[in-house]
Amino acid sequence: PVVLKEAFQGRFYIGTALNLDQIWERDGEAIALVQQQFNSIVAENCMKSMYLQPREGEFNFTDADRFVAFGQKHDMHLVGHTLIWHSQAPRWFFSDENGKDVSRDVLIARMRSHIHKVVSRYKGKIAGWDVVNEAVLDNGEYRKSKFYQIIGEDFIPLAFQFAHEADPDAELYYNDYSTAIPAKRDGIVKVVKSIQERGIPIHGIGMQEHQGLYHPELDEIEKTILAFSSTGAKVMVTELDVSVLPHARENQGAEISETYAYKNELNPYVDGLPDSVMNKLGERYVNFFKVYLKHSDKISRVTLWGVGDQYSWKNGWPIPGRTDYPLLFDRNFKPKPFVQDIVSLA
Ligand code: XIL
Repeated sequence: PVVLKEAFQGRFYIGTALNLDQIWERDGEAIALVQQQFNSIVAENCMKSMYLQPREGEFNFTDADRFVAFGQKHDMHLVGHTLIWHSQAPRWFFSDENGKDVSRDVLIARMRSHIHKVVSRYKGKIAGWDVVNEAVLDNGEYRKSKFYQIIGEDFIPLAFQFAHEADPDAELYYNDYSTAIPAKRDGIVKVVKSIQERGIPIHGIGMQEHQGLYHPELDEIEKTILAFSSTGAKVMVTELDVSVLPHARENQGAEISETYAYKNELNPYVDGLPDSVMNKLGERYVNFFKVYLKHSDKISRVTLWGVGDQYSWKNGWPIPGRTDYPLLFDRNFKPKPFVQDIVSLA
């Protein structure tokens, strides 16, 4: 039988995101697979700020504590996701009691207290944190998030500084998607250098790798690995999945709400995945892992964004109710045919 963590031993950690049923061990088959195959875990949602601090000063660590206890029990490399992100952040974070934006000082103080509270709770247990998520746009500019609008670009080094204060031994990561786009790649490298120039540590850059069957080109991914690594940071693949479905945007620019009319067109594999598509998916995955293994001196971890197809967010995003096949294990917890090929590369 294939065992991913044995195959990639000495090359990089191989990880998966866990949902709440898995964290609470209500899903025995999934948990058995996690223990058998993976040596790193990240929480898919429960460590995001809207869950950890739903109201100011009111923290809820129930699920996150359980995630950490599960990882420790199974001797896993634990990744915390994510401290500062414009999405899945509670609205109060940016607003005063009248719903107006808070001042720069107030937002910095809220960032500090959130990061200090969360990181110090798991000091010595969480090996690395996605400190800032998705702060750069595809054109390389800063995303005009509330953090950016209210604080300016300093919010990024400040977040890393606060995390470092709370756990000086934890690794600290910047994480983003579509990192193979040249302008975005360059933008991220600039952000990383701006952190380093202030003497604040950053240990890793995460490439999310939510991919499709055709884009991006492999050589652009490789260029990104080299560019990120040239900063001195480790590179990691943090949220790997490969959707086999057409993206909503490909549907003549239709708004997502309009795409329901095209549901069949956009959900072509409800009855199963044809061999031809499975082969294409396999080819894509094999090519990705070839690149990761070629650069395994630079890549410290490859994490899949889910244990198996039935749990993937891609069944619900960007269009709800689709049937996607983006992961390594199928809906019966069986490795897909090409997983053997991936393992044989190592
Ligand atoms: C996704 C989760 O998988 C979904 O369950 C949730 O509804 C939305 O967030 N980039 C990230 C992840 O950094 O946190 C996102 O996870 C996927 C995109």
